[in-house]
Amino acid sequence: MNDGMIRGIDHIGIAVRSLDERVPFYRDTLGLGEPEIEEVPEQKVRVAMFHTGAGRLELLEPTSPESPIAKFMEKNGEGIHHLALGTEDITGSIGAVEGAGLRMIDSVPREGAGGAQIAFVHPKSSGGVLLEFCRRG
Ligand code: CO
Repeated sequence: MNDGMIRGIDHIGIAVRSLDERVPFYRDTLGLGEPEIEEVPEQKVRVAMFHTGAGRLELLEPTSPESPIAKFMEKNGEGIHHLALGTEDITGSIGAVEGAGLRMIDSVPREGAGGAQIAFVHPKSSGGVLLEFCRRG
């Protein structure tokens, strides 16, 4: 039973060195079809969003060495970067975290790929998982 604001897993974010190199696996080998490709300059990434039928996969390629995704890969290499939960009320979800005395990276939502509103929880407040709240539409 879920009485809260969370509505499913929206997507899993995956850090990749090159979309050109990784997209064919998801598109052709797994048959997920053509992704939506978008650059998000504010986060210095290029994004390929695949629809799996239940949840999306968000491939993130850094467009600059200053990108948080580039910094992540310096330490960890390619791989799963974050988990995004869909929320009906992003301000409410932020408030729930901060109200519990925990930390957000983004206290105020910002715009992510596909025009979604997003906000990251600080991984120290979520047991090492980089958790994103994501509100669409
Ligand atoms: Co994301």
